[in-house]
Amino acid sequence: MTKTILRALAGETLAVPPIWMMRQAGRYLPEYRATRARAGDFLSLCYTPELAAEVTLQPIRRYGFDAAILFADILLVPQALGAELWFETGEGPRLSTVTTPAELAALKPAAAVHDHLAPVYETVRILARELPREVTLIGFAGAPWTVATYMIAGRGTPDQAPAHRLLREDRATFAALIDLITEATVEYLSAQVAAGAEVVKLFDSWAGSLAGQDFEDFAVAPARRIIAALKERHPGLPVIAFPREAGERYAGFARATGADCVALDQSVDAGWAARHVQCDGCVQGNLDPALLVSGGEDLVREARRIVRAFSGGPHIFNLGHGITPDADPENVTRMIAAVRQAGGADV
Ligand code: CP3
Repeated sequence: MTKTILRALAGETLAVPPIWMMRQAGRYLPEYRATRARAGDFLSLCYTPELAAEVTLQPIRRYGFDAAILFADILLVPQALGAELWFETGEGPRLSTVTTPAELAALKPAAAVHDHLAPVYETVRILARELPREVTLIGFAGAPWTVATYMIAGRGTPDQAPAHRLLREDRATFAALIDLITEATVEYLSAQVAAGAEVVKLFDSWAGSLAGQDFEDFAVAPARRIIAALKERHPGLPVIAFPREAGERYAGFARATGADCVALDQSVDAGWAARHVQCDGCVQGNLDPALLVSGGEDLVREARRIVRAFSGGPHIFNLGHGITPDADPENVTRMIAAVRQAGGADV
C-alpha cells in the first residue's frame, strides 16, 4: 500500500490527513537533548550519521508520525561552498560573509559540495534502511533566498536588510550568489534522493520579505529551476515548497514553481487557503506552534478547525513553523489525537 504522505502529495483526499511536524526532532524532546549532549554540539550532531539518524527516528518512535525529516540544517550548504559556520550558544548561527565579487569568487563551485555533505547522504541511507515501512522519508534544503540572507549577513536578521541592500547595490553579485546556491541545492537534493529520500522540501523561511518583482525573481524563479532540474533527474519526485509568510502570494505558487505541495505558515487562514491554494493541489500546515506550548482546549479546537477546513482536498497536517524548545511533548500527543479524531479515525 502506498504511504499516506505520498498519496496526499499525488493529490488524493484522505479522510485522516497524514501528520508530521517541522523541527519534530528538537530541543523540546528530552531524548534529543541527551543525544545532542553525546554529540557535543549541534554541528557534530548534523555530521555524525548514526546520531543524526537516531534523533530523526526519536519522534517517529515516540509519536508514530507519518513522515521523518532528515536531521540536518539549511546552513550546511553554505559551509559546503566554503563559508565558515558556527553556532553561538543561545544566539544561533554565525557565518563568514559574502558581499563582494571577490568573496563570491572564493566560494567553491556547486558540483564540489558533495565531499563535505557526504555524512548527510550517509544519514539518509541509514534512515532509508531503518524507518518503519509506512513512514515517508523527507529530505530538505534551504531555498536560495533564505540561504543567501544568512550568507550575506553572516547571521539571522529580523528584516533581512543586508541581503536587500546587496540586491539594490550590486545586483550582479547578488544574482550570481543566488545562482550558485540554486545549483548547489540541485546537487544536494539530488544526492539525498539518490541516497533514499522519497520527498524533498525547500524551506524559504524569509520569502515573505521579498516584495513585488523581487518575489518573482528570487523566490519563485529559483524554486522553479530547482524543481524542474530535480524532476528531470528523478521523474515523479514529489516536492514541497515553503515560501513562509508569502501571504496572498501562496495562491498560484504551486503552479508557478511546479511544486506538488505548498506548506502554509500560521498567518494564513485555513479557509482562505482551502479556496485559493488547495485548489491547485496538496497543502501542508498550518497549526500555530505556540499552541503546543499553551495546549488546552484551544489546541484541540484549532487542530480540528484546520483538519475540517482542508477536508475537501489533499492535506498534510503540520505546524505553520517549527515546534519551539518550550513546547510540552504531551501537547504533541493531544494534537495528533485531535487530528485523527477530527478525520474520523479510531484513536
Ligand atoms: O525539521 C526538522 O526537524 C529537520 C531539521 C531542521 C533543522 N533546521 C534542525 C535544527 C531543519 C529542516 C532546519 C531548517 C532551518 N535551519 C531553517 C529553515 C526553517 C525555519 O526554521 O525557518 C533555518 C532558517 C535554519 C537555520 C538555523 N538552524 C537557525 C536560525 C538555528 C538557530 C535557531 C534555533 O532554533 O536554535 C538553527 C539551529 C537548529 N537547526 C536547531 C535544530 C534542531 C536547534 C539547534 C540545537 O539543538 O541547539
